[in-house]
Amino acid sequence: MIEDPRFWRSGAISASTVMIAVLVILSSDTLRTIRAGGRNVPEYTVINQRIGYAMDAAANRYRPVLGGEELLFGRRYSAQEAAKLIERGKLVIQTRACLDCHTMFGIGAYYAPDLTKSWLDPIWPSWQAMTQASSREEAMVRFLQNPDRYPIGVRIMPNLRIDRADAEALVAYLKWLSSIETNGFPARFGD
Ligand code: HEC
Repeated sequence: MIEDPRFWRSGAISASTVMIAVLVILSSDTLRTIRAGGRNVPEYTVINQRIGYAMDAAANRYRPVLGGEELLFGRRYSAQEAAKLIERGKLVIQTRACLDCHTMFGIGAYYAPDLTKSWLDPIWPSWQAMTQASSREEAMVRFLQNPDRYPIGVRIMPNLRIDRADAEALVAYLKWLSSIETNGFPARFGD
């Protein structure tokens, strides 16, 4: 019986079939979880809201806290506008290779700060004073357009000649990014 090739063949076929089914189920579950509007990732219109990051005692980790309206650049973005802006931000991040120096979700290069929660960095008021900006997003735009003029850390970010529209798209992307449930990464950010 054990010598029978049909026995081995049917075993291989049924095991592969089961594993393919498991892979399809896990992949579709992952896609549902990671897409904007999914379980862990807010809709792009979250950029119209206040975003925080606070200790959740029950879960014993930090979690994003979504609050009321807090407009970005004084504008309320529609779902379509927000999606377009964040798509542009993503393309700028990819074409300018920000992750050659930075990380997101801890992935990338460990030369410059992790950007996952950068929107919530308590350092922005210092940059706001330095750039004489009237808001956090304006300070971020001014910093991103002229990082070499406004250094804070030991390492200086080079001037990448980012234009105003691209800088605004980056800020929208970073604000949305900070709203993602990351299982507590980074731990105690901003404390
Ligand atoms: C050559 C390396 C390098 C590249 C490329 C780079 N950065 Fe930076 N970035 C830095 C360094 C270094 C700092 C810290 C600057 C300081 O503290 O003065 C920084 C700081 C920042 C900050 C402030 C982070 C915080 O919370 O303190 C943001 C936001 C940022 N960069 C975004 C970007 C984006 C977006 C891109 C791509 C368009 C990018 N950086 C590309 C090196 C880089």
